[in-house]
Order: sequence, then structure tokens, then C-alpha cells
Amino acid sequence: MIIKSIQLHNFRNYEDLSIDFTEGTNILYGENAQGKTNILEAANLSSTTKSHKGSKDKEMIRFGQEEAHIKTIIEKKQTLYEIDLHLKKQKNKGIALNRIPLKKASEIYGILNLIFFFSGGFIHYQKRSGGTPEIYGRGIMPDG
Ligand SMILES: Nc1ncnc2c1ncn2[C@@H]1O[C@H](COP(=O)(O)OP(=O)(O)OP(=O)(O)O)[C@@H](O)[C@H]1O
Ligand SMILES: [Mg+2]
Repeated sequence: MIIKSIQLHNFRNYEDLSIDFTEGTNILYGENAQGKTNILEAANLSSTTKSHKGSKDKEMIRFGQEEAHIKTIIEKKQTLYEIDLHLKKQKNKGIALNRIPLKKASEIYGILNLIFFFSGGFIHYQKRSGGTPEIYGRGIMPDG
């Protein structure tokens, strides 16, 4: 299975991004805060419908926008799959597989098989609780 491409619209810091991947190893590199992890987060969303950081949908929508879209094309056993996610501020996300809307998020499971390694991420500063750090899940070490 390979991820052939990811397209982002109003997702995190990306107004529009279209990225094609090649077979084998793909390396994303860049300065801090340029959006590398955001691309991985989009891949994780396409696999699990959830953010690896535990972010809510509305937090992943580009600042000042109402909706975000992620389109991921996967090739598996010579078959192409298109996963579309539509993140909304006030409503549940829309999920479509090969342009057919799905009723349950779980129907997407197993299409994009992903192993996600990351450091930190689960250290999350809860603004609502006065900036106290709270640790969720399986973070290994903080990355600031
Ligand atoms: N909802 C949002 N709207 C707009 N920009 C956002 C949103 N959420 C996060 N960002 C921006 O995304 C950027 C961080 O992206 P990301 O964490 O992917 O960077 P990175 O390249 O992985 O950095 P590092 O090398 O430090 O890990 C920051 O500039 C942040 O302001
Ligand atoms: Mg990062």
C-alpha cells in the first residue's frame, strides 16, 4: 500500500497544498513550524479520522476559516482509493470513500494502514485549565 497523494484545503497552516509521494521512503524537511507534522496529522486523520494530537476538528481548520478538506489517494493491490474528509466547525466531519459518503467513521478503518511514531504531541497545554500541562496517552518525550 502506498499513499500516492494528499491534498489539503484550509487545513492547519495550509490554504492549499497538493503533495505527491513516490514509492519508497519520502522525507519531509523544513524549518520549525512550517507544517511538516501537519501533513502527517492529515495522513493520520485519513487513516483513523482522528488527530494523533487529540485535536478537535475545529482546531485543525485554518484560522479564520469555517471548513477544511483533506483528500488522500491510496494505492493498494493495484486499486486506487480516495478518502475525503470534510472538517466543520460546528458539525461532525464528513467522510467519503471513493466519493461515497460513509455513515460511520469506522467504515474507513483498514483502508489506509499507518504506523505513526512521534515524540511529544500528547503533551497538551489546556488553556481552559489555566495553562496546566496535561499528558494524554502514549507520548514518549516532549518536543516543545
Ligand atoms: N488551525 C490552524 N490554522 C493555521 N495555522 C495553524 C493551525 N494550527 C496550527 N497552525 C500552524 O502550523 C504550524 C505548525 O505546524 P507543524 O507542527 O506541522 O510544524 P513542523 O514543521 O512540524 O514544525 P517542527 O519542526 O517544529 O516540528 C504553526 O505555524 C502553527 O501556527
Ligand atoms: Mg513537527
